[in-house]
Amino acid sequence: MEYFEQIVKNRHSCRGFADKKVSDKVLNELILYYEDEESDLVDEISTELKFYVGTVWNELRKSVGYNGFCIKAPAYMVIFSEVADHYIENAGYIAQGLTLKMTELGLAACWLTINDAEAAKAALGADTDKEVACVVAFGYRDPANKEKAVDKKNVDEMTDGFRYGQDIPVDLFYRELEDALRAVARAQSFQNKQPYKIIVDYDQISLIGLPDDETSDRDRLLNYGIVMFNFYSVMWSVRPTTPRWSFDPVTDRDLKLPASVTYVAKCGL
Ligand SMILES: Cc1cc2nc3c(=O)[nH]c(=O)nc-3n(C[C@H](O)[C@H](O)[C@H](O)COP(=O)(O)O)c2cc1C
Repeated sequence: MEYFEQIVKNRHSCRGFADKKVSDKVLNELILYYEDEESDLVDEISTELKFYVGTVWNELRKSVGYNGFCIKAPAYMVIFSEVADHYIENAGYIAQGLTLKMTELGLAACWLTINDAEAAKAALGADTDKEVACVVAFGYRDPANKEKAVDKKNVDEMTDGFRYGQDIPVDLFYRELEDALRAVARAQSFQNKQPYKIIVDYDQISLIGLPDDETSDRDRLLNYGIVMFNFYSVMWSVRPTTPRWSFDPVTDRDLKLPASVTYVAKCGL
């Protein structure tokens, strides 16, 4: 409840940062969170977290940021990842946890689209064999920044019951699930398109991808990782025994998915 109300609900993208440095102490808190506390989606995938403070925007803007615009920020967070099955969802999941940690620490952040991962790696001068999997701009919000929170789909629009397209009143499910579903509806997505849905059943939920021509494959997979983190973190905050997400197919029931949508993953309740 508190994690949803105080952290997830308060996370809004920032595109106007104050000219204030992010201290090493704060960066260390983020590193400690990444190393000690955070969960991931796929344990076997090796990742690296790196911060770039103050100097990379001029080079990075050539390969990162949608509509040809890379947000200027005091710092950038990059997750480098080994390339393996589900590595982009995994990186999105990890980075979303870190952006929510940033919210907790009073920082603001904005996801950035990667237009060319190799060029971004070269721009960062990164000494690693891993790929740039995601980039997030962060720092302190400029008090003069009057950017408004964007409208998001509501929980009813985002959820079906038992099978695709079947309405279900959200209050049929228990309270702690309601907050976790709200966290799904609040999740960041490329251009706020929210091209996904949750099918809720009594013992599990399934994440379903909706068609969207404008979202690239990479951003679609990052979207999924972000949503999965939002759901899991809120469930975990009320019930730490919550099972983790699984990419295994659903074989014990028919979700009645039309050919236009994609099954992504499931999470036990
Ligand atoms: C994968 C991904 C890529 C994004 N790329 C950009 C970007 O390049 N530039 C930008 O200004 N915002 C970008 N965003 C931020 C979204 O536009 C923003 O999260 C969305 O509008 C929701 O708003 P909120 O963050 O305030 O909840 C991206 C978000 C995601 C998840």
